Amino acid sequence: MAGPWVEKYRPQKLEDIVGQQHIVKRLEKYVTQSSMPNLMFTGPAGVGKTTTSLALVKSILGDNWRANFLELNASDARGIDTVRTNIKEFCRLKPVGSPLRIVFLDEVDNMTKDAQHALRREMEMYSKTASFILSCNYSSKIIDPIQSRCAIFRFAPIKGQDILKRLEFVTESEGFEYDETAIQSIVYFAEGDMRKAINILQASASMGEKITDENIYDVISKAKPQDVSSMVSKALSGDFMGARELLREVMVLQGISGEDMVNQIYQDVTKRIMGEKMADDIYMDIIEKIAQADFRIREGANPRIQLEALLAQFL
Ligand SMILES: Nc1ncnc2c1ncn2[C@@H]1O[C@H](COP(=O)(O)OP(=O)(O)OP(=O)(O)O)[C@@H](O)[C@H]1O
Ligand SMILES: [Mg+2]
Repeated sequence: MAGPWVEKYRPQKLEDIVGQQHIVKRLEKYVTQSSMPNLMFTGPAGVGKTTTSLALVKSILGDNWRANFLELNASDARGIDTVRTNIKEFCRLKPVGSPLRIVFLDEVDNMTKDAQHALRREMEMYSKTASFILSCNYSSKIIDPIQSRCAIFRFAPIKGQDILKRLEFVTESEGFEYDETAIQSIVYFAEGDMRKAINILQASASMGEKITDENIYDVISKAKPQDVSSMVSKALSGDFMGARELLREVMVLQGISGEDMVNQIYQDVTKRIMGEKMADDIYMDIIEKIAQADFRIREGANPRIQLEALLAQFL
């Protein structure tokens, strides 16, 4: 098992990128035209912004891509001045053996407003020799003058089904067996983030020959939804001691944190109201109690005591 799977299974070509079809289709036009405007990729973590940039750069720049490509991180530890010096030095040169030069700048939303204004001037100054690809999680943090100079591409969280297929592909390529439900659990916890999904998968695979539900819950340190559900059911039906025992098991033996427990209880209760398995007025009462426990735990109260008190109020 050499190296991280997220790198090993990073798609190299635009056509191999999972989901994001509408974006890939628009980008393929730039490849045909051998030119591109400044681009801005925005969206949540782990959905393919960097991957897509690299694939696009390789397609447009061809074999000489390394010589005509500069990758920088805007939150570089050495400071924004280093970033700008690098941009200037790179942009002074003409493209060699490629139609243009490309600067890829990651985490632009971490730049201060002043630094963004400076970046905007550089984009303007070098517009003849270089195109920029800017990547960020929140486009709202980017100043308007930069936004209006870029074609904006909004990356969406990856659909559960697409993540599922990808995880099965990776698992089979690596020669692991798996429980279907285990893969489904990963998809559930990854919340559209492919990087997170593949990382959970690899961590679970390192625990044995087969990828099972058990391994996954160990890796992500979340309680099993069934355990939480039966704990809530017990509390609601008046079996406080039963609920308390389950709580102890999950928190002490599995080491789940108080914050995660409150969240998972909230998710379970929400599922009940969505499935019309709980009356509206009971839900309103309960949600108030959950909110109180959540607040107190965050403020530093003892999570075991808060959670026991919460379950007691469910009775
Ligand atoms: N659309 C996708 N198709 C296939 N694999 C993907 C996709 N998106 C992400 N991955 C996997 O997740 C890893 C990380 O993706 P990437 O670096 O592109 O995320 P990102 O959107 O740039 O995230 P961040 O906002 O954290 O920079 C990739 O190496 C790849 O293995
Ligand atoms: Mg990235």
